Amino acid sequence: FDAVDVIAAKRDRQRLSDAQIDWVVDAYTRGVVADEQMSALAMAIYLNGMDRGEIARWTDAMIRSGERMDFSGLGRPTADKHSTGGVGDKITLPLAPLVAVFGVSVPQLSGRGLGHTGGTLDKLESIPGWRAALTNAEILDMLSASGPGAVICAAGSGLAPADKKLYALRDTTATVSCVPLIASSIMSKKIAEGTGALVLDVKVGSGAFMKELDQARELAQTMVALGTDAGVTTRALLTDMSTPLGLTAGNALEVREAVEVLSGGGPQDVVDLTVALAGEMLSAAGRPVDEPELRAALADGRAMDVWREMIRRQDGDPDAPLPVAPETETISAVDDGVLTRLDALGVGVAAWRLGAGRARKEDPVQAVAGVEMHAKPGDSVRAGQPLLTLHTATPERFERARAALEDAIAVCPADSPEARAAVARRR
Ligand code: URA
Repeated sequence: FDAVDVIAAKRDRQRLSDAQIDWVVDAYTRGVVADEQMSALAMAIYLNGMDRGEIARWTDAMIRSGERMDFSGLGRPTADKHSTGGVGDKITLPLAPLVAVFGVSVPQLSGRGLGHTGGTLDKLESIPGWRAALTNAEILDMLSASGPGAVICAAGSGLAPADKKLYALRDTTATVSCVPLIASSIMSKKIAEGTGALVLDVKVGSGAFMKELDQARELAQTMVALGTDAGVTTRALLTDMSTPLGLTAGNALEVREAVEVLSGGGPQDVVDLTVALAGEMLSAAGRPVDEPELRAALADGRAMDVWREMIRRQDGDPDAPLPVAPETETISAVDDGVLTRLDALGVGVAAWRLGAGRARKEDPVQAVAGVEMHAKPGDSVRAGQPLLTLHTATPERFERARAALEDAIAVCPADSPEARAAVARRR
């Protein structure tokens, strides 16, 4: 094969053959196909698409570029969750231990944040001592009946190396937001990870990749088909990301909120989504548990016990105080009324600018930085009441963070249609 012929075929809207796909993915991984050639092919795919058969083959080729984990020796079912990414999405933290309580192991191989969406590993690294990198033997040990039964750690470099290379390239060539490429990227990693069941939390709204419901549904259906064909019991939920999840966005702030949920408290939207996803994971793994029982495991400390063991086994101290920002600033309501808008993208960009996220893969993040919210859309507020607290270690960042929030917040008179709609949505 010749890379130019493969690029030309997709440029001219032809279907790529299985052999072409196998060759180009393998040759790119080995460095035989150059970055500029793969960039052109990614753009041709972005513009002209791939059919389901091409996407399945592309996914399979990326899986075959690396190792595949195998948990069949554990003697218990496995289930994982993947979120397509959002603002304040700390659900993995309470979810993994909650599912493990019921005898289903959770291999949650995670990534770091890029841009305005947070990364699970960045959040956990705000816990003193906690380490993200584990060997395969350590992962198996965590998942076994003698371990906590759940693990959240870094995906090793051996899983889908073709995707690792391609994702970095897409990030710099405006070819990220494309259903065939996103679906194959996510599913190649999840199938290679070896989970038996998978629940996808596909986010829709301003703070998500997919801003529109139609696009999100197409992504969800594509990923469910890929997982199912690969023998993974796969389900998807479409969930709202027009406003942040919970009351915090930022690394240590989100861990604190996750610990509140594991202590039987925490914001209702975080608890509800945790319970909904846990229910789906357990039923997909063949061990259905009803909702009151899931809520009880959060309230009575069973999930917390698993969490503490998970943190300890990765050298973290579950009792250590989380770091706190030395500098804070408050944004308050100007008028009385109802908060009608608290835009996820605005809050995510503000948290990022405060230091919670990174612009390039190699940048460090601040554990302490982020945005704490004191009200959610639909809540009544009074003039002068704090709406948000901005946290950072570098106060020169406040100004740009405030700028990101300028159009992100709206308060309307209580008798306005906007206010009534926001109150109705909150219920
Ligand atoms: N997350 C991924 O892992 N890949 C994508 O392409 C987009 C989001």
